[in-house]
Amino acid sequence: MCSQEGEGYRLLKEYANGFMVSQVLFAACELGVFELLAAAPEPLDSAAVSARLGASPRGTELLLDACVSLKLLQAGVRGGKAVYANTELASTYLVRGSPRSQRDMLMYTGRTTYVCWGHLAEAVREGRNQYLKAFGIPSEELFSAIYRSEGERLQFMRGLQDVWRLEGARVLAAFDLSPFRVICDLGGECPPRTLGLCLELCCGYHSGHSPRPPAGGSGALAKACVSLYPGCRVIVFDIPGVVQMARTHFSASEDERISFHEGDFFTDPLPEADLYILARVLHDWTDAKCSHLLERLYQACRTGGGILVIESLLDADGRGPLTTVLYSLNMLVQTEGRERTPAQYRALLAPAGFRDVRCRRAGGIYGAVLARK
Ligand SMILES: C[S@@+](CC[C@H](N)C(=O)[O-])C[C@H]1O[C@@H](n2cnc3c(N)ncnc32)[C@H](O)[C@@H]1O
Repeated sequence: MCSQEGEGYRLLKEYANGFMVSQVLFAACELGVFELLAAAPEPLDSAAVSARLGASPRGTELLLDACVSLKLLQAGVRGGKAVYANTELASTYLVRGSPRSQRDMLMYTGRTTYVCWGHLAEAVREGRNQYLKAFGIPSEELFSAIYRSEGERLQFMRGLQDVWRLEGARVLAAFDLSPFRVICDLGGECPPRTLGLCLELCCGYHSGHSPRPPAGGSGALAKACVSLYPGCRVIVFDIPGVVQMARTHFSASEDERISFHEGDFFTDPLPEADLYILARVLHDWTDAKCSHLLERLYQACRTGGGILVIESLLDADGRGPLTTVLYSLNMLVQTEGRERTPAQYRALLAPAGFRDVRCRRAGGIYGAVLARK
């Protein structure tokens, strides 16, 4: 009984303090701690870190020690002083420009998602996203709110790609897509290599002290697709603002098998393709809007073609995995949609006309649902 109470109390504290852990991570990323330590030839003491970051000595010392406690940094001693270096976790996932870096998504989560989550109770009460309360922005047009400034759009576009560099190949390999020669990645964002440069030059987003890394943030899913299925061609379809931004900052295509097409997938003609990918698109929308989009896709799809839905899939009872349950609440505070179970995707796809609906988890956060016309 006593140990049960102890465990309950421990869990309660862990849950209540979870936001502090997130903020340590976000603040260290924002300040450029991990880039500074990655670029330093040897571990640095707290005074050197604070001087180079232009941050207070007291705040820096407390933040660095919290990072050690969270296994983001490792501490040693040199000349009687504590010195700090990145752990492997930080070098792999937190240093800007590392091939597996998740930093852009963390920055977006810290600056935008976190602020919306501050209004979770209101979101539950009202049943809608919280851009108005969080940022004073109406959200009748969802992506006008999400892309409310150039900097915000770029941060979102870069952040979204982080996960596909890690999970893209695995989720695209959940089914053999090699028979599909022309693939249309709807709501696919774009692969402009210079986004990072633009983000810093045009929009004043800056942190980090290492030399600017090769940008090349987005289009990770399209790139994974042509690399896994070399015989295919990918048309990335997205709204004009997103595609134009890519064209402005991206003169020559990185890969001639990837092309862009701008339009509104709810209203404009859709490119002809053998397979349509909807990655993290349906979760933004209500069932009614998803059904409308799927019906349009069924009309556009060639007979024998298909649709691949890539989403974080809920368990059949809707109560797990925890990450997906939390993502579903995130859809409440940030979009019009929700995460869904495989059965819920089936219930959207079948009435639109799609048959042979198969669902596969891919071992990571995201899974795939393939259906055929
Ligand atoms: C959550 S993001 C997912 C992006 C990408 N598929 C991924 O998984 O990283 C949703 C995408 O849908 C695009 N989008 C939203 N509304 C759209 C519309 N009406 N027509 C075309 N694209 C749209 C957005 O610009 C954005 O790129």
